[in-house]
Amino acid sequence: MECVRVLERPAQVPREQLTDRRLADAGDAHQHNDDGLIGRDLGWAVHYPCFLYFVRLTAAAVQAADHPEWKRRKIKMAKTLRVGVLTGGGDCPGLNAVIRAVTKSLIVQHNAEVIGFEDGWLGLIEQRTRPLSYRDVSGILTRGGTILGTSNIANPFSYHRRGGADVSAEVVRYVHDLRLDAIVSIGGDGTMAVAHGMQERGINIVGVPKTIDNDLMHTDRTFGFDTAVAIATDAIDRLHTTAQSHNRVMIIETMGRYAGWIALYAGVAGGADVILIPEIEYEIEEVAAICRERESGGQRFTIIAVAEGARPLGGDFAVRETIADSPDPIRLGGIGRMLELQLKDYVRSEIRTTILGHMQRGGTPTAFDRILATSFGSYAAAMIADGQFGRMVALLQNRLTSVALEEVAGKTRTVPADAPVLAAAVSVGTSFGVRDLAHRFSGRSVSGAIS
Ligand code: F6P
Repeated sequence: MECVRVLERPAQVPREQLTDRRLADAGDAHQHNDDGLIGRDLGWAVHYPCFLYFVRLTAAAVQAADHPEWKRRKIKMAKTLRVGVLTGGGDCPGLNAVIRAVTKSLIVQHNAEVIGFEDGWLGLIEQRTRPLSYRDVSGILTRGGTILGTSNIANPFSYHRRGGADVSAEVVRYVHDLRLDAIVSIGGDGTMAVAHGMQERGINIVGVPKTIDNDLMHTDRTFGFDTAVAIATDAIDRLHTTAQSHNRVMIIETMGRYAGWIALYAGVAGGADVILIPEIEYEIEEVAAICRERESGGQRFTIIAVAEGARPLGGDFAVRETIADSPDPIRLGGIGRMLELQLKDYVRSEIRTTILGHMQRGGTPTAFDRILATSFGSYAAAMIADGQFGRMVALLQNRLTSVALEEVAGKTRTVPADAPVLAAAVSVGTSFGVRDLAHRFSGRSVSGAIS
């Protein structure tokens, strides 16, 4: 009863503390009590939980805005999707096919606006862009090189034209000024490392794996490799003519950096007698023994495919050049000639060396690379529309998928000891310049994915 009485009693709030509104309410017995402190105490009791609730709600909203699903929806809701495209690192057959596929897919499927950055990351640093329309990318499927230009020394985290300054913040601002929803970064491990760094600074990136070397992690294939292998195989076929006619040892040096994929595949496809790759340090006596066996065995010629990153047991890499400003300053090359000089002391035949060099990166891509590049490009466009950022398109067990950029950035995929192609080559008697390799492979079945 007492309780009821208190509630029923009119409030005793000093009139000078009441606003007009409260003056009007002052007659309401339910809002007041005896001690006259009603306006403040009961108000906080109500407002404080409300305030806490508001803070929680805001925090949840901020968290949700950063969630990939929300980003995806935001992009879907946006009026026009705007996407930038760049090609970084060395040029490679199939780059234009990817630019075409990304651009056309984004325009056809999503009515997007696409712009190209000139010369890879340099275009973002120096603010050089060009619009890419459906028409701009028509007719470039079969063209080698890249219509956008490329650079393998541009790096926003260490800009060579400003003494190695970190200009990534300027690049981020520029991307925001351009109102880009995402950037497609087509390149090798160096380009992916920069892409990963920019993703960490808040730029939405989708990577596409490019390189003739086929040495990117977590993808069975990079586009450009098939073309390089086809060119190197053709060269080996042609070198056979002179080798057979003159009874010579013919050495062919392929590219590939620290991975032996090109030499291995072209060597197997071209029927090289000896294949030397960085993953297996060769013994010169063993290579010489093969040449001599063939000299006396009636075949009288030997074809040796050597990867630029190959080296003799305990020896160093052959370095062609060092490019100070490049994120990857060492350019390999010259092992073919070194091998020739080493072999001279051991064999009677004449020896000649051909360095295939940039021929492997030039010209029109093979049908396989055109298909791979087109598939990669359209998959990248779909990833953008779906808000899947910070990832690189990949081919794994013949299926298109994607991997996190941080899993790829700055890493190298070399030929594993259990590569089926390696096992196949050993089983048909191809030498890798070491005596005991056959033992290492004995009993191992030649099965599994070829890549
Ligand atoms: O990564 C592709 C590649 O062609 C390598 O095989 C080779 O070692 C390197 O690039 C050559 O680079 P550059 O074009 O700078 O001489």
